[in-house]
Order: sequence, then C-alpha cells, then structure tokens
Amino acid sequence: MNTAHLVSDLRTRIAQWRAHGERIVLVPTMGNLHRGHLALVRRARQLGERVVVTVFVNPLQFGPNEDFGRYPRTLPEDLRQLEAEGVDLVYAPPVEEVYANGFPPATTITVSPLSAELEGEFRPGFFTGVATVVSILFNSVQPDVAVFGEKDWQQLQIIRRMVSDLRMPVEVVGYPTERAEDGLALSSRNQYLNADERALAPRVHAALRAVAAGLGAGRNDYKALCAEQAQALEAVGYRVQYLEIRTPVLAPPEVTSRDFVVLVAALLGTTRLIDNLPVNLT
Ligand code: PAJ
Repeated sequence: MNTAHLVSDLRTRIAQWRAHGERIVLVPTMGNLHRGHLALVRRARQLGERVVVTVFVNPLQFGPNEDFGRYPRTLPEDLRQLEAEGVDLVYAPPVEEVYANGFPPATTITVSPLSAELEGEFRPGFFTGVATVVSILFNSVQPDVAVFGEKDWQQLQIIRRMVSDLRMPVEVVGYPTERAEDGLALSSRNQYLNADERALAPRVHAALRAVAAGLGAGRNDYKALCAEQAQALEAVGYRVQYLEIRTPVLAPPEVTSRDFVVLVAALLGTTRLIDNLPVNLT
C-alpha cells in the first residue's frame, strides 16, 4: 500500500493507473476508522481496480466550539487496517496541502438551501466545509467513483447535488449504515460516551424504528409521530435537536408519500449523536 502526504505524489501514482485504464474509486474519511468505514472500502473494491482512501480531519467543517482539537487521530492504526483491506493508496495530507493558498480558503462551495436545514441549522458552516473539502479531494484524486455512507444522509444528498449541479465527472455511491448489535450506528464520536451514556445510546435507533413502525401502520400525522419519539428520548435524558420525517432527497413529505427517511440528532451529555433510517412503504 502506498501512502501520500503531498498532492504531487498522489497524482504521480494515480496517473500511472489511469494510463492503464484502471477505474479509481475514492473513499473520503476523517480517519479513526471503524467497521463502517471499512465496509465502504470493501464496497469500493467492487467498483473499480484501484481504491484510494483519504484520511483528513478537515478544519473547515468544525465550528469554533466543536471538537476539532480532540477529534481522535489514529493514523498508524488506520493505515494498518487499510493495508489489511487491500487499499492501494492512502492520501493523508497536512492542512496546508489541502488548502493550498492558506486557511481558510478564499473559494468555498455551498449547496443551498439543503445546507441550512437539519444538521445545518445546528452546525452552521458545516456543509460548506464538507462540500468544499470533498470538491478539493475530488479535484486532487479525480476518481471515477466515490463512496459515502448513508449514516450521514444529508451529507450524501448534498454531495450528490453538488456533483450534479457542477457536472463533476464522478459517480457517487451510497452505502447503508453499519451498526453495533444493539442498533447504535457506528461513529468515531461514540468513544466520547461514558458507560451510562453508551447504555442509553441505542435508544436513538429505537426511536427511529418506532417512527418507521408508525409510518408502516399508515400514520401520516408526521409531526405528532416524531414528537412522541422525541419526548421518549428527552424522558431518558437526551436533548433532541431535531427528529423529522423527510423524503429521501430531504423535501417535506406529502400525506401520500411512500418513501421517507427519518432523521435525528440528539445530545447525550456533551456527545452529539446523529442517525437516520430510510423507510419504503411500497
Ligand atoms: P467520517 O465521519 O470519517 O466518515 C467517512 C465516511 O464513512 C462517510 O461517508 C460516512 O458517512 C461513512 N460512515 C461513517 N459511519 C458509518 C457507518 N456506521 N456505516 C457506514 N458508513 C459510515 O463524513 C466524513 O468523515 C467527512 O465529512 C468527509 C466526507 C470525509 C469530509 O471531510
């Protein structure tokens, strides 16, 4: 496995593969890899000859009071896991290599209005940071395909929209959420949970399943259905930021809709958990 820290090294390597007509598949990450990330890598292997994984904790997507400083950085262990998965190249650049003309960059990408809702309401600037870094990574790697997790459903929609609006020549592939046995969506931030919080953490997925069951039973009083489950989470100590039913592209659902995604963000102590569940009634 090759590791590149500079875009020039990255491009030299990729140019050789491209010259041989090999398909390049990109999996962008912030590192601290878990089984969810590795599932994306395995999916990527099926989609082309060469898999490139980026490991970059992107300062542009963290707010001033967020966890950029303490976000877990475990590059040696990440490299070991990626090597075992047969990844061809890891790009792990320093901040100044990604933001070539200084940080913050003069040029940013905002996918509006999707970026201002749900996550965007509680994390202003987050999706501009994500869309900007993902474009920079796309331009650096120039992949044929890029794989993203449905765990970050809104992020996936925003990237799809950006690629479509800007006619970026990359195919975006989504991959379902990997969970712990008790239903908790795997996340690098789960390690912030103490033992009591970890015991309560599966309630988030349970709340989503309860909403899905209501939809399955024919309920279309979406607001009330969500409010019931938000209250159930609050009753055990969560602070719910949003719990909403949307269409898969995040529009408000109609009473006749059959395709939904239920999305939630909730604080447990100081840890922010997000999750979602796609629901199809057809
Ligand atoms: P990160 O949180 O490291 O996630 C990297 C990729 O792994 C994302 O596509 C995310 O949706 C996916 N992922 C995370 N947990 C998952 C799980 N439990 N099951 C399946 N996939 C999962 O998302 C980011 O990094 C950043 O915003 C990034 C896109 C790299 C831009 O900086």
